[in-house]
Amino acid sequence: MNSRRALQTLGVIAMTTLLSSQSLAQKIVVAHRGASGYLPEHTLEAKAMAYAMGADYIEQDVVMTADDQLIVLHDITLDRTTDVADQFPGRVRDDGRFYAIDFTLAEIKQLNVSEGFRMENGEKRQSFSQRFPLGASSFRVPTLREEIELIQGLNKSTGKDIGIYPEVKSPAFHRAAGKDLSTALIEMLKAYGYTSKADKVFVQTFSFEELKIIHDEILPAAGIELNLVQLVGDEESYGWMFDETGMQTVARYADGFGPEKGLIIDRDSTRGNIIISDLVKLAHANGLQVHPYTFRLDPGQVPDYADSFEELLELFYFDADIDGAFTDFPDRVVDFLRKKK
Ligand code: G3P
Ligand code: CA
Repeated sequence: MNSRRALQTLGVIAMTTLLSSQSLAQKIVVAHRGASGYLPEHTLEAKAMAYAMGADYIEQDVVMTADDQLIVLHDITLDRTTDVADQFPGRVRDDGRFYAIDFTLAEIKQLNVSEGFRMENGEKRQSFSQRFPLGASSFRVPTLREEIELIQGLNKSTGKDIGIYPEVKSPAFHRAAGKDLSTALIEMLKAYGYTSKADKVFVQTFSFEELKIIHDEILPAAGIELNLVQLVGDEESYGWMFDETGMQTVARYADGFGPEKGLIIDRDSTRGNIIISDLVKLAHANGLQVHPYTFRLDPGQVPDYADSFEELLELFYFDADIDGAFTDFPDRVVDFLRKKK
């Protein structure tokens, strides 16, 4: 090889290395409901732990109370993760559930939060049996304000810039009850200084209708621009997005695409035959980042096609080329990406 050709080859190698290290540096970890594999989901304690573990973004599911306060809670009901049925037995609806929207913030603040559970023969049965013990210690439902102040406070004291990743939960349910959850969320984000796409926030929703309202009406009315993520569940409801025309439509409103992870690597994959869909390529070609959910370590949660949690991460982050992942175990994903660097 002559010297000119050698220099060209070195240049290509250097550029390839630079590009791959750039894209690696951009791959993110989203703490799903905080470090929820270790502490009860959506408690300030779980969020502080996720922060300390080095997550890049920390997730908030947001719902509204009877007195229009924003709280961080995964379900629109309180009965899976609190003792509401013990403290307020008379407030149950006909369907047997206790809705956050029926309670004031002061009432919700009286509740004890625990690991998620279901009732079996009159007894509470923990959903993830190996996680933090049911009923141990003392936890509360946080407001969104408390949570933003926790993360921004830690950003000040540590000098980091960790992001938030709030989800507008069941927007149609809230609208039917006369509550504009999205506007309240966007106004709070603006009040806390999240005003441009350079700020570390992704606003996510499963509702394409709500995504359009946020993009076309609520953000312009607030005079700000934020990164938006279209969450994607089952193929039946969202399949129209899975081709060029559909993805182009999503990309008019969103900056990111958040599919259930089985839509990227087929659950029927086997160790010798990993079936990767073209969703990531399609999303990337339309300028969208891809952040699938949810990566868990609990028994039965790592699909059989992967030998380990880390192999699962390798398949998703590098074979399928996702940009980030929602995980209940942020320490393990942070460690995995650090080792790759
Ligand atoms: O928002 C991403 C992921 O959290 C979606 O699932 O049900 O845990 O909110 P869910
Ligand atoms: Ca969520």
